[in-house]
Amino acid sequence: MKTVPDLESQFTRLKLRPLTGSLGADIVGINLNAVDEELIAQVQLALDHYHVIAVRNQNLDPASLHEVARRFGPFTGNPVHIPLDGFDDIVRFTRSAADRGPVVGEDLHMDMPWMEIPPATTMLYGEEIPPVGGDTLFTSLSAAYEGLSETMRSIINDLMGIHSGKGVFALNASHRALSVKSNAQAIDDIETEHPLVCVHPTTGRRHLLLSAALCRFTGMTEAESMPIINLLMSHAQRVEYTCRLRWEPGTLAMWSNQCLMHAAINDYPGQRRVVLRTTIAGPPPKAASAAECSP
Ligand SMILES: [Fe+2]
Repeated sequence: MKTVPDLESQFTRLKLRPLTGSLGADIVGINLNAVDEELIAQVQLALDHYHVIAVRNQNLDPASLHEVARRFGPFTGNPVHIPLDGFDDIVRFTRSAADRGPVVGEDLHMDMPWMEIPPATTMLYGEEIPPVGGDTLFTSLSAAYEGLSETMRSIINDLMGIHSGKGVFALNASHRALSVKSNAQAIDDIETEHPLVCVHPTTGRRHLLLSAALCRFTGMTEAESMPIINLLMSHAQRVEYTCRLRWEPGTLAMWSNQCLMHAAINDYPGQRRVVLRTTIAGPPPKAASAAECSP
């Protein structure tokens, strides 16, 4: 978390508790079923600076989550999952007590980085949460960028990354509880180019646009690219760049999807966990190099 003078004084309508020195904050004392433009703006401000926020003690259902989400921006679309009946933008992820094996999203990833414009924000609402286990781990791609040497930054600043959709369909289809769209197989063929080093659209803070879907850099072979990608992936997982969000029923998490990676922790066998997800569109990733040139 980069220190911004007077940031805290702008949160006049909510109570904010930072989770770690790098990212994340709990928000208490608000009711998302009764929001106005000022409160939405303060939550968005908290999100822009802390990159992941957990709004506690909410009472949402798919309809009210839809209402809240759309106050923050339009739906991104979701080419992978079949939404709940009556909604185009809400997916329910259910892990039953009998389910075994991997959980959805247990490896560090970014949500849909292979889209032309990856989601700016992911929203996840806890409907049923085990008493312990099932935390979400986040790692800040801003803190990771800032932790690189100046020489390394100068090497990577202008790289363009290719993000592949290969394997996304098979991975999601392998989860019994997930309903996958029939045309989702086409995601395998998607390759989308994004700048590796971007600036946040409102704070101007730099971050890596890095994920497990990054397969090579433009103008470089895979053999040339992978050592750099592996180095950055390893570096971005340093513990000082992370936080763990501990869920409760009624927690609404929001995260700045392009500025971090996250992982669902698979440590609650025999317990049921149900969450609702939607995603919010924002501007396309903006290259840090381009930002320097613009007035
Ligand atoms: Fe995810």
